[in-house]
Amino acid sequence: MNDLNKAQLSESVMPDKDGFFGEYGGRFVPPMLEPIMQEIADAYEKIKDDPVFKEELYYLQKHYTGRPSPVFHAQNLSKKMGGAQIYLKREDLNHTGAHKINHCLGEALLAKRMGKKKIIAETGAGQHGVALATAAALVGLECDIHMGEVDIYKEHPNVVRMKILGAKVIPATHGLKTLKEAVDSAFDAYVQDPVNQLYAIGSVVGPHPFPMMVRDFQSIIGREAKEQFQELTGKLPDNLVACVGGGSNAMGLFTAFLQDDISIYGVEPAGTSFKTGDHAATLSLGKPGMIHGFKCYLLQDEKGEPAAVNTVASGLDYPGVGPQHSYLKDIERVKYETITDKEAIDAFIDLAREEGIIPALESSHAVAYAMKLAKTLPADQTILVNLSGRGDKDIDYVVEKYGKDYGL
Ligand SMILES: Cc1ncc(COP(=O)(O)O)c(C=O)c1O
Repeated sequence: MNDLNKAQLSESVMPDKDGFFGEYGGRFVPPMLEPIMQEIADAYEKIKDDPVFKEELYYLQKHYTGRPSPVFHAQNLSKKMGGAQIYLKREDLNHTGAHKINHCLGEALLAKRMGKKKIIAETGAGQHGVALATAAALVGLECDIHMGEVDIYKEHPNVVRMKILGAKVIPATHGLKTLKEAVDSAFDAYVQDPVNQLYAIGSVVGPHPFPMMVRDFQSIIGREAKEQFQELTGKLPDNLVACVGGGSNAMGLFTAFLQDDISIYGVEPAGTSFKTGDHAATLSLGKPGMIHGFKCYLLQDEKGEPAAVNTVASGLDYPGVGPQHSYLKDIERVKYETITDKEAIDAFIDLAREEGIIPALESSHAVAYAMKLAKTLPADQTILVNLSGRGDKDIDYVVEKYGKDYGL
């Protein structure tokens, strides 16, 4: 960590009362939504320290999700890289196969407490959609998931899963038909009936209180990992690595370590090139702007509108990013790096063949960066990677598109 001043860092941990992390975040919604958002913020403030709610959530995390997820020393992969030791926080082993269940259970319990009838959301890779459909089935709520038509094709196994779980999958058919359009579509549906529905946003994005609330539900990842890593090695990891789409798995891992003297890396998708429309490297190449009711780094076209984005990982395909990440970039607490589609696919195959673990294409971006970083560091250094999800959903797509290159 460089000479960050303490005040800046604590501002990065808690937003101000209006939901701003520095200049980022806030709540820019139509006037009719303002009281509804405040109601959600108030309800969350009330339940977050309520012992009954905490107990209920803890019980589900342990007995339903299967927490704590393990930390695994990827010795074969580390050896192959010939440098630092790579460790994996295995969020892929959670029920439903990714970190998304961590906040979905929290959001579903909150919706139930608030007397809502339905939870709705967007999904990119389908992991948030599957996790929310699962939580809705468990607590007894209706569930609508909005998903871009392109992603419906790409992530077919997750679409079937959501339907089996009783959710309605609603295609977003405008624009690029991916994650941003799914958020547009879910927002439109939410505005129709904000009284009976809760929009359970799938990352640390959107208007206040969602970036803070989703982060709080996800921060169990880092709290567990800190304890587990120290138990395994006797010290803190020297480096943390996580992929960043909206940024929830990354904030989940980073939050417990922000005050520690270690290096932290967020990894964005460089797609096929750094030309506008070929990537989704928001923090690396965007500039401050507004999207979906909050301020953040944003990839923009000539008119200042959200730019077209592209990546092999549907869950990273978003032109905006969480406000806390935007702030952590400005104060230089977290470094944001990029990984291309090709590097991510190589890492997908490498982790499968070295460790017998098939990662999600989103998580493959983090693995790829950790592999690069490991090569530059001595063997006594450590890197803890958030393996945010498993790759079952991606195997058909990888084989169809890249199979020939890997003898598949
Ligand atoms: C497995 C996995 N990892 C990461 C992400 C990216 O989201 P976030 O940046 O909010 O963690 C997704 C999104 O769908 C995902 O499915």
